[in-house]
Parts: sequence; C-alpha cells; structure tokens
Amino acid sequence: MKFKLHALAAATTLAMTPVSQAADVEVLHWWTSGGEAASVQFLKQQLEGKNVGWTDFAVAGGGGESAMTVLKSRAISGNPPTAAQIKGPSIQEWGELGFLASIDDVANAADWDNLLPSVVSDVMKYNGEYVAAPVNVHRVNWLWANPAVFQKAGATIPTTWDDFMLQAQKLKDAGFVALAHGGQAWQDATVFEAVVLGVGGADYYQKAFVEGDMAALNSDTTVEVFETFGKLRQYIDANSPGRDWNVATSMVINGEAGMQIMGDWAKGEFKVAGKNVGTDYVCVAAPGTSGSFTFNVDSFAFFTQSDDAKSAAQGVMADAILSTEFQEVFNLNKGSIPARLSMDRAEFDSCAHDSMDAFIASSQTGGLVPSFAHGMAVSEAVAGAIYDTATNFFNSSDSAEQGAKQLVAAIAAAQ
Ligand code: BGC
Repeated sequence: MKFKLHALAAATTLAMTPVSQAADVEVLHWWTSGGEAASVQFLKQQLEGKNVGWTDFAVAGGGGESAMTVLKSRAISGNPPTAAQIKGPSIQEWGELGFLASIDDVANAADWDNLLPSVVSDVMKYNGEYVAAPVNVHRVNWLWANPAVFQKAGATIPTTWDDFMLQAQKLKDAGFVALAHGGQAWQDATVFEAVVLGVGGADYYQKAFVEGDMAALNSDTTVEVFETFGKLRQYIDANSPGRDWNVATSMVINGEAGMQIMGDWAKGEFKVAGKNVGTDYVCVAAPGTSGSFTFNVDSFAFFTQSDDAKSAAQGVMADAILSTEFQEVFNLNKGSIPARLSMDRAEFDSCAHDSMDAFIASSQTGGLVPSFAHGMAVSEAVAGAIYDTATNFFNSSDSAEQGAKQLVAAIAAAQ
C-alpha cells in the first residue's frame, strides 16, 4: 500500500510538472477532410503553445477503420503512439490489454467528474481511472440538405421516412442526386443506423442494437427497418461505391445532390466551404428521429510510456483538451458540441444549439443512445457483423426478410 501511494505521488508530481524540455506527442487520428484537418490543427497549435511538439500520425479513412488496423499493428510491435483516437467500448478493450496510462491525477486536479456528463466520463475510465480525454459530442442522426435544390425540385425537407421517399423522388425527377452517399461500409452503417432509429424508435434501438436482445432483433420492426433501408437504394447515384463521405457532402454543397445523412462532422465541410446555415444549407434530425440523439464521443486514449517526459506531455495534452478554449474552438470547426458541460453557447450556430438541446432533452426521455456505426455501442465484433449485413444488403437486391434474417444470424454469431 505504502509503495502504491508513493508511486501515485510520484506520478502526480510528474504529470503536473510543467514541461520544460520539448516533449513530443505522437497522435493517431483519422481527421483528414477539410473540416477535420482544421480541427486537429487547433489541437496541435494549443500543444505547441505549451511547449509540446506534435508528430502527426494521420491514417485517412472516415469512421476510422483503417486507423484502428494500423494502431493494432503498431501496438503489437511494442511501439504504440503517445495518444490515439479511440472511442467507446474499445477504450475498455485496450485497457484490458494493459496498454493504457492513467491520467487520473490531471483529471482529478481539474475536477473532470463535475465537468463532464456521466454518459461521457464513464466511457473515459478504465478500472475507475481516466485513461482518455473527450474532445466533443457528435450527433450522428442528422440530415443535411441544400434548400436551393429543394426549391428547384418543388420539394420540401422531409421529417418522416414516408415523406423522405416522396421528396427524394421529386429531387430525382428534377435531375438531382436525391441522396449523396459514399458506398463504404461505415457510411452504409451510418444511414442504416438512422433508419433503425427513425423506424424502430429509441427503445427498439437500445434493445436490439445496444443490448443485442434477440427478441427485439427477431421482430417485424427489423423487417420494416430493412424495407425502408432498401428503398434508399434507388435514390443514390451510380458513382457512390467507394466515395469518401466528404466528397458526398460536397455534392450537397455544390447543388448536385439534395441531401446527405451523416453525423455533424459534415458541418465542418460546409464551414470550410464558406457556407451559412439556414441559407446555403439546412440541418434537421434524420427522418423520424427528432426526439432522439445517437451520440458519438471522440476521445484520445493515452498509451503507457517508459519515458517520463512523454508521460508529462500526455498530462499537458489531456489538460488542454478539457480547457474551455479548446472545447469551444475545436467544436466550432468540427461541427460537434463540447463534451464539457456549462459552456457558453454564444459562438455556436443553430445546428449546434439544436444538438445541445436534443442532448439534454433526449437524456431525460431515453432517446439518448450510443451510435453503433461509430464504435460507441457494441464490441468491434458485433459492430462488424452489423456493418457487413448492412453493406451486403444495401448492395444487393435482397428482400427485407432476407436482410433481417441475415442480421439476426450475424449478431448471434458475433456476440
Ligand atoms: C468520427 C468523427 C469523424 C468521422 C468521419 C467518426 O467516426 O467520430 O470524428 O469526423 O468519423 O471521419
């Protein structure tokens, strides 16, 4: 016990000591689109201002699948980065493997338990100690629309899935791509997730896609979900396979497409393109999901270091991430809302205000659910099963019954 206390005291002193010598952090992330790069640039600048150098370890690929593959090979070879963008239950998985460093001293000194909602702080801890720092809260269930395109097509922005099909048909008949989409597994899963929430509601979502409840999965609702999801096949264009998400966003920006279903990182692209919310683009909850919120919290987990200066640099990075300045500027660029509570809202736009309001309201009604498409809800194995089923179905002419059957079998095998 005595030894443990000594070790703790030493670690505390270490992390709180200002970094006098230049210590670098090597940071793995997948933020390579215009809006994402602007966001990560701000973190880099903040650290450089605190005498911590930045070695960029960017692995392109929206949703982060490639980044996670590269991270695993680096960790297995005994050379993990200082910090990596790791989210949700994966933080626990890395903790269990013994890779993560506690930043509890920094977190306790700044009182993170009171600065963060528990839905966020719980995920950042392994064995009761903070091992990761949250940068934001993304809402995934958004629909982005170009109002000029809607006007030209005589269409209105849909708020239910039935209406979505009607309006999408009008856009298509007027010669527009109705739904800008990138045919990559994670994007298929992102749209599928919005359909699950809109068609099935938050209770069904929670039971079937968070708890893996077989009775909920084996229901008519799942067939209805696949029916709606399947109808979307006709509203995407032939060039969608392999397209990056930000290229799909640019189709909405430049008026080639009417809508995109994507998390609010899409807003970062509108911002970089100099577009204004309300006039150039509109954000509304994905059809049927206005009272709900699929949350996706980006966070950096810290890997155990043998070099004390590097551990100290981790402490500086963790501390900087929770500062009000960082939480504001980073999230203005990223399209998300701050993870830190009680932040000033003045600089944020109406989409962010909607998101802030929906986050609070949905947490009181049971509508706040973790995003399975973005690594917040289930293990990697179960998420992989959902990704595969959603993608295979979307790229086939399978019936809704076949899709539902395959989903149930894939989840049962993975959990
Ligand atoms: C991440 C976002 C990122 C998006 C697209 C999501 O999984 O949480 O931060 O912008 O993928 O790359």
